Amino acid sequence: MLEVKGLSKRLPTGKTILNDISFRVDKGEFVALLGASGAGKSMTMRAIAGLTSVTAGEVVFSGESGKCYTTITASGKTSGKDLRRARRNIGVIFQGSNLVKRLPVLDNVMIGRLGRIHPLRSWLYGFTDQEASEAMAALERVGMAGFASRRTGSLSGGEVQRVAIARAIFQRPLLYLADEPVSSLDPKNAEAIMQLMQPLAREHPILGAFHQPGMVMHYCTRVIALHKGSIIYNGAPNLSAKQLDEIYCGQADRPEATQELTAAAES
Ligand SMILES: Nc1ncnc2c1ncn2[C@@H]1O[C@H](COP(=O)(O)OP(=O)(O)O)[C@@H](O)[C@H]1O
Ligand SMILES: [Mg+2]
Repeated sequence: MLEVKGLSKRLPTGKTILNDISFRVDKGEFVALLGASGAGKSMTMRAIAGLTSVTAGEVVFSGESGKCYTTITASGKTSGKDLRRARRNIGVIFQGSNLVKRLPVLDNVMIGRLGRIHPLRSWLYGFTDQEASEAMAALERVGMAGFASRRTGSLSGGEVQRVAIARAIFQRPLLYLADEPVSSLDPKNAEAIMQLMQPLAREHPILGAFHQPGMVMHYCTRVIALHKGSIIYNGAPNLSAKQLDEIYCGQADRPEATQELTAAAES
């Protein structure tokens, strides 16, 4: 369970980036953040991950054990130790992921758990055989086991995103954040990545930012739409053309979204 309470972010210039954002993400949910470019999708996710400061608000999440983690408190400060502990439990899947190109695929997956092991152990002994076999299982799950020893820099965009997902799985997080995980991919690869994420979300909820309303309607359980830093919709993923108009009002990226909706309706 993730609970975002009253997140606001104002710049010293007075510009409002996030305006009193509150929502919950519960077990089993695959929630999509939709909104035109600049609406605040990435900033919301950065705030949840404790990667940016906010003017007000609080973010807490917990897993089955009930133990709660906080990335942002009402006072705006979380201790470094608490923040590290919280971040270890958030699996991050970003567009054009930050994998290390010169390393083999398997090493990039194992990096996902670096935050959990003592730095001295990782430096002296590396990972255990058990950890290596779990990392292989994660690669297996995304259909990339055959690529374990390949240099990551030699992979295609779709393959890189699969490895990024394997790394997040291996991390064993309580929650996944995915910022435009399919935006750089062709429709076929984007679809394949959505198909991988859907069952993952049933285990641990995913909050993702997307630019493909058609795919979101098919795979996600809920939509939260942002407009200029405020939530303008929080509900069922099947949006009408009118609702999409409101979400993308007048923006250059609206036609693509609308075309996709039409295509989804026809298929
Ligand atoms: N580091 C920053 N400093 C100041 N403004 C920023 C910064 N990053 C993003 N913004 C602004 O915050 C708003 C939301 O951006 P962002 O969350 O990246 O939008 P989205 O991901 O929905 O496209 C935009 O107006 C953007 O210009
Ligand atoms: Mg963004």
